[in-house]
Amino acid sequence: MAIPKITSAELKVCVHLAGQFPPAHLPEVAFLGRSNVGKSSLINTLLARKRLVRTSSRPGCTRALNFFLINDKWYFVDLPGYGYAQVSRETQARWGDLILDYLEKRATLKALVFLQDPRRTPGPEELFLWEKLRLWHRPVIPVLTKADKIKKAERPRRLRDITEVLEPFQVAAEDFLWFSAANREGRDKLWQRLLEHLG
Ligand code: GTP
Ligand code: MG
Repeated sequence: MAIPKITSAELKVCVHLAGQFPPAHLPEVAFLGRSNVGKSSLINTLLARKRLVRTSSRPGCTRALNFFLINDKWYFVDLPGYGYAQVSRETQARWGDLILDYLEKRATLKALVFLQDPRRTPGPEELFLWEKLRLWHRPVIPVLTKADKIKKAERPRRLRDITEVLEPFQVAAEDFLWFSAANREGRDKLWQRLLEHLG
């Protein structure tokens, strides 16, 4: 499959509350990962847009689920990063509920792109999410971000550390994609994987 030409990409809505979701009538993929892991940069790279998705804070939308309409055909959903220490526990819990509910129930959600910093091993939050996604039979595309920061020779060891922790969820090392927003490594491969789910 050829990589699609992006003719339009716009932020349709940023969702803070259950009642704000756009109608579920288009296939969508969501991007999930710890705060600062590179979700927004990855989406910008996929869409070849420098600034569609702000990679710094945007008041009002950073803590929301951001729905981007792509080519009037798909939604890309930039989920708020977790593990963000500067917000209250109560607020974190509320976002968590909204996101978990979305991950469990959204009928048109075809796949999750789950981003992981290869310099960290998955922690309790990642394991919790892997568990839930498996329970809900959600297809996951695991991505290792900021690949430009990891020497090629170091990659096998990083990958081994990560897959070891994720062993209960049967994620194979070869399922992981190395991705860099800095040099666009992995962009074409990720598009291929996305298209398998988006149709
Ligand atoms: P939140 O929205 O806060 O959850 O963060 P995010 O996951 O959207 O991360 P974002 O894309 O904003 O990137 C965080 C920081 O990492 C920024 O300073 C980016 O420039 C940097 N960054 C993202 N991707 C890459 C990459 O592939 N390589 C390098 N070297 N830096 C990156
Ligand atoms: Mg972001």
